[in-house]
Parts: sequence; C-alpha cells; structure tokens
Amino acid sequence: GAVAVASAHAPVETVADAAERGRLTVVYGSQTGNARRVAEALVAKFEGEGLPVRLLRADAYPTRELKDERFLAIVISTQGDGDPPDDARALVEFIDGKRAPKLPQLRYAVLGLGDSSYPQFCAIGQRLDARFEALGAQRWIARGDADLDIDTVAAPWSATLFAEAKDALKAKSPALTLASVTPLRPHAQAPAAWTRERPFAAELLANLPISGRGSDKDIRHMELSLADSGLDYEPGDALGVWIENPPALVQAMAEALDLDVDAPVTLGTDTLPLREWLGRKREITRLSRPFVATHAAHAGSEDLNRLLAPDQRDGLAALMAGSQVIDLLREHPGAWTAEQLVEALRPLQPRLYSIASSRKAVGDEAHLTVAHVEYLHGDALRWGAGSHHLATREEGASLPVFIERNERFRLPADASRDVIMIGPGTGVAPFRGFVQEREVVGAGGRNWLLFGNPHARTDFLYQVEWQDALKRGSLHRLDLAFSRDQAQKVYVQHKLREHGRELFAWLENGAHLYVCGDATRMAKDVHAALLDAIATHGGKSAEDAADYLNALQAQGRYARDVY
Ligand code: 2AM
Repeated sequence: GAVAVASAHAPVETVADAAERGRLTVVYGSQTGNARRVAEALVAKFEGEGLPVRLLRADAYPTRELKDERFLAIVISTQGDGDPPDDARALVEFIDGKRAPKLPQLRYAVLGLGDSSYPQFCAIGQRLDARFEALGAQRWIARGDADLDIDTVAAPWSATLFAEAKDALKAKSPALTLASVTPLRPHAQAPAAWTRERPFAAELLANLPISGRGSDKDIRHMELSLADSGLDYEPGDALGVWIENPPALVQAMAEALDLDVDAPVTLGTDTLPLREWLGRKREITRLSRPFVATHAAHAGSEDLNRLLAPDQRDGLAALMAGSQVIDLLREHPGAWTAEQLVEALRPLQPRLYSIASSRKAVGDEAHLTVAHVEYLHGDALRWGAGSHHLATREEGASLPVFIERNERFRLPADASRDVIMIGPGTGVAPFRGFVQEREVVGAGGRNWLLFGNPHARTDFLYQVEWQDALKRGSLHRLDLAFSRDQAQKVYVQHKLREHGRELFAWLENGAHLYVCGDATRMAKDVHAALLDAIATHGGKSAEDAADYLNALQAQGRYARDVY
C-alpha cells in the first residue's frame, strides 16, 4: 500500500514517517564495548528477520527525535561509581533533565550493564527506566540488570524484546521488506582472526618492574609479541587478556569450605575439577552483592543480612572493597557444595589494559603498563587477580589475548592539532603509545603530558623515555605532580589550574584533550579543574564553561579512558 511505496521511494525519511511504520531504534552507551556488542547482536537479530531497526551510539542520537520515537531499546552500562559512559553523558542528562519531553507515544526497553562489585550496580539503566516511566512512556519489557556475565541477563532480555517487538513492528508495517531496514553499523569492520572468544596466544617478551626500590607500588612494563597473529591496533586501543586465579587462593577457598579441589563439578553441560572452575572459569577475588546475599543465606549470618539492607550501602561497599570471597567465607562460615559455589560465582572475565605502545614504533608487539595490585586484609596478602597473574608470569610465558577497540580514544585525524594528555599513575600508558605514534608519523602538532605519582625518585614511570622525547622534540611539554614529595599533596589538576591560561590557549587553538586513569577521584577532580580553567581564562560563567567542555566532548576533542 501507500506505506510500502513511500518507503521505497523516499530517500529521506523523517523520524515521524519511520515511527508511523514502526521502526525500532536501538541506542547504546558503552565505555568498553560490551553494551555495543549486545546492541549490535540485537539489531542483527531484527535485521535478519527483515524488521525495521536502526542502531545508534548514544552521542549520535538526535534528542529532538525522542518525542516522536515509538519503539526504543537502550543498552547502557554504568561506570564504577554510578556514572554513564562518556558517549551517553549528554543523552542521559537530556532524558533526566527539565527539557525532556513527555513521552506517551513511546514503548521502551532498558538493559543495564554493570558490575555488582560496585554499590551503584546498573544505576544508570535503573535511572533511565524510572525516568521514562515518569515521562509517561510505556515499559515494553522488564528492565534487565546484567552483571559481568552479561549474557546471563542479556540473552533472555534480548529474546523477550525480540518476541514482543517482532509482532508490534510487523503489525505496524505489514509491507516492510529488507529494503527499508537501516543497516547502520558504525563499528563494522573486517572480523579479526583472533577475538575475545578465540584469543591469540601471545608470548611474553618482557616483564620489567619500573617502579623503583622503596616504592609503595609494583608497576610492571610488559611486552607481548603479536608476531604472526595478524592482530593490529591503534594507539588508544586496549589489550584484552584472559587470566587465571592464583592457585594458592583456589586451594585456600576449597579448604575454607572443606571441599576437594580435584572433585569433578558439573554445571550445565560442563564437567571440570573444582580447581579448574575456580582457577580459570570464575571470579574469586571480587565480591558481588548477589554473592554476599547468597552467602548470607548459607551462613545464616545476621551481620551480613544487616549489611544487605537498602540503607546500608556504605557498609556493603566497604566490605566489597576490602574483602575477597575467601575473606567472606572465613569470617562468616557457612556450608556450600562445590556445585552451589561454582553456580553462585560470576564467570571469569578477561582484563583490559590500555596499550602503551604504537605499532608503528614497536612492530609486532603490544606493551602494557600494569600496576600489580597487592594489599593486606588483616595480615593476609591479597591480590588483584589480573595484575597478579600478569606480574608473576615469566618471560616466554604465553598469554591469551585479543584487541579491544576504543574508537572514542583516538589521536586527532589531523596530525597538526596539539594534544594535551593527562595520565597520572598507570593512566600514562596510552600516552606512551600516543607520543611514539606522533613521532613516527611526524605529526606537526605539539604534545603536552601531565603525569603524577607519589614520588619522583621511585614512581616516575618511563622517566628516561620522556626526557629523551623532550630532547628530540617529540614531547613539547611535561608537567609533573609528585604528590608526596612535599608537605602538601600536588596532583595533576593542580598543575592544570596553575597552567590554566596556557591550557585554555591550547584548547582555543584546537587542541585535543585526553584523560586516562582513576575514574572515581582523579577524573572527577580533573574535570572540575578543566571547568575552572576554562571559566577563569575564557572569561566564562560556570554554565558557559560546561557548555564549552561538552562541545569539546561532542567534537571528540575531550576523551576519557578511566577505570
Ligand atoms: P596520592 O596517592 O599521593 O594521594 C597516581 O596514583 C597519583 O594520583 C598519586 O600521586 C596519587 O596521589 C594521585 N591521586 C590521588 N588522588 C587523586 C585525585 N583525586 N586526583 C588526582 N590525583 C590523585
């Protein structure tokens, strides 16, 4: 009928036209690519059936279209302490804000992604879900809150949405065919031979401590061979590494529960010894709220149940930050079977490390800067599973790796642009790659690095390289914030404020700004310092300074890789 004719002949379709015909819009907000992957799979499913669907990254969603949107699915992650991913900040603010329109015409579905080790687990998905309802939209299917084992929740959520949406979209558009599908695949590229599911076995070429004797930290510079892998990466990308848990910790957990590490355990169709489940298949270092809740039941612990009460978020957060699974098992004894334990623990996830090299400079290698996380719980030594596994590998060891693209953290396409890189601690990693790359390609723009760490003597990571780069003219400015070398703490944001006039001049001159490192404190404080510098030296109100920084972000000139 008329609808089919219109869709076949009208190259430009308004959102109102499309909505009339019942198109599904899938929007994702993603920091590390998980939400994007889920959204892409969802869209592929609809496309496979010839149903009308479009896929948009959150920062590409035209908010003025929201009031006409009929069918919307949002897949969005929550960052550590309850923030949206950078690419979704503006959209979340819009939906949350006073300017959001009433949405009685809308049916929506939200899938939140998160990590239940954090108290703000899936907070952004929950916020959007509640907000859409408050704006008068109709919840299409129940929200999903997916933990690190994303598919456990994402697969049924996607299947339910597909079942519901299929009929609605078909009923609205009986004559639709593949021709009217919007095949928008912003990240599509030739599939790499080695992937997260099928990683490449990379040889470890070097594992060097680069923090000095006496440092509080053990920082490693690691070099991995990508020879004969066909793997390629750009500065800004991350290396995904599949890790194993410390064998001694596996043993200790089994002992704490009086379980036999060699006994076979069957879950679904997989049978493995408990040792293998805990060593290679499950997260056993980081606690999650669901695990604490299940353990509270097993242990019949009033203390734990109290911590799980809605008003006890801080207590639970403190428990999760300072304890591992083994500590919970020891301090609140309870009985578990091996099957129950394996089922309650989350699947082990690969760790992502920002690559610290440029392929053009180092050839078939990827370099990493890894902080070996070690701390005391009482008098027991505890480790971060990923960094401990890496730090204790010897040269010649093989590590299963893959490349995780980070399209939002890229050097300017125009190499004559200046770059400002803020990377305290191991946040400096990608900037080593940036500076290498800019030198090799002969970039005309200037490079300004701001680095911070506790002490110059022990924690000046890559000191010699930076000093050589300054001499060669491939690094133009280096500002250092050694926080504990004087009575008062000095952080990178203090340096930013101190040099605010120059910072603003660089930005006015088109510079790109990058922040990498700690998300919870550093990135927030740096953000505030940037706003202040822009307001002070640009003669702007706080509101105009915020608009200025938002505009930079929208132009891809303010990118963050924070964790
Ligand atoms: P501190 O540990 O001495 O407080 C890398 O970890 C560097 O970041 C360290 O020098 C650390 O200082 C510093 N740091 C800690 N909190 C910070 C914050 N809120 N903003 C910026 N840097 C911070």
